[in-house]
Amino acid sequence: MNRRNFIKSSLLVAMSSSLPRVVLAATPSAGFDYELIVEAADVNIVAGGSTPALCFNGGYPAPVIRAKQHQPVRIRVINKLNEPTTIHWHGMRIPIEMDGVPFLSQPPIMPGETFDYEFTPPDAGSFWYHPHMNSVEQLGKGLVGALIVDEAEKPDFDEDLVLCMKNWHIKDDGSFSALTTPQNAFRMGTPGRVMTINGEIHPTYNVPAGGAIRVRFLNVDNTVMYQINSTDPDAQILAIDGNPIAEPIVLTNHMAAPGMRLDLGVIAPSKVGETVTFKHKGKPMVTIKAVASQLKDRRLPKLPLNPIPALDLENAETIKFAFEWNANITPIEKDGKVSYNFWTMNRRSWEGMSKGHIPDPLATLERGKTYIFELSNLTQYHHPIHIHGHTFTVLKSNKKAITPFHSDTVLLGQNETVLAALVADNPGRWMYHCHIIEHLKTGFMSFVEVT
Ligand code: C2O
Ligand code: CU
Repeated sequence: MNRRNFIKSSLLVAMSSSLPRVVLAATPSAGFDYELIVEAADVNIVAGGSTPALCFNGGYPAPVIRAKQHQPVRIRVINKLNEPTTIHWHGMRIPIEMDGVPFLSQPPIMPGETFDYEFTPPDAGSFWYHPHMNSVEQLGKGLVGALIVDEAEKPDFDEDLVLCMKNWHIKDDGSFSALTTPQNAFRMGTPGRVMTINGEIHPTYNVPAGGAIRVRFLNVDNTVMYQINSTDPDAQILAIDGNPIAEPIVLTNHMAAPGMRLDLGVIAPSKVGETVTFKHKGKPMVTIKAVASQLKDRRLPKLPLNPIPALDLENAETIKFAFEWNANITPIEKDGKVSYNFWTMNRRSWEGMSKGHIPDPLATLERGKTYIFELSNLTQYHHPIHIHGHTFTVLKSNKKAITPFHSDTVLLGQNETVLAALVADNPGRWMYHCHIIEHLKTGFMSFVEVT
């Protein structure tokens, strides 16, 4: 993080007197922009007691990593867990070596080991980071953080709020309840009970009255699909899943499934003390409150589009992917562990991988070519389908009208078929999975290879 950004974010923290939890900047270690220590730590989410979480740098929320478009960022990860981990940078179109998937892109970071990630983000926007191992537990217990890539030329907002949405699976005394059950994994997943924004229950953030405010929602939850709306009828959607949309649209009710993001722009109330509340299914999640400012006649700035490669639809190849239920729901016992295969992608359930065993790719893509993925959800639940190292252009749905937009995580509703295209321009083996963590753990995961 450069000094200016650091000072700016410290100021934001100081300015927002009611900001309940300080988002710490990571400690730069020798020559590194960020250092992330992955470790167990107790955090306070509910009043009744502390929660034995897994954390980055000893707390929750995790440090917000701020990188700059087209500029390298270096992040040192030190594993102090007693199990292996890796860190994946969700939504980044970066070389495979930095993708953070065990065995496929790097060896697992063993307890006590360090791994240095370095990459140059081609796209600006709201992204995030999380482990790609033992994910029900590692993500579920708190290893999730925001990765914000600032535009090469920064748009003129008066405040920029980074809001990580997560429902904690905890009881009143702070201890964890079950993160997953087979019954739920077979259905919509196991929702956590305590809805939080940056680890707080319905926090309020102060913003300058009349200011142009960027509000970034990141769904870092394992399971919950948030349905975001606002008490401000003029709130605008500026970007979806990190990527600015060509023309902002008015927010009515936006569905953000696990892994997905939503950047909103609002003009803060001009009267001091007035508020705007953002809700999930009518339940308040977060409020912004106007505090005195000199700002007047502010407008929302336009976000520059990301350089997502242009599709060559004329010469594109269509590949069908069927997302289905597995009729065979008998538990599988392996190495004393019980697992289930509830879900299939093109009739295959993810069998897991290890050093000596990597399954075949679900599809092999020719480098440079355009592909249209025909994503068919043949189940009665929704699934956010995520691909690594590439960004889809979502073209069409059999259920609703779509203005094409870019996304790394495509939400498929019940029995919905979506056409999502990409240019296979990034060589490597790229994970391709549902981002409902219990679903990927019970079959909905695979990878495609770009050769
Ligand atoms: Cu958010 Cu495979 O990742
Ligand atoms: Cu799913």
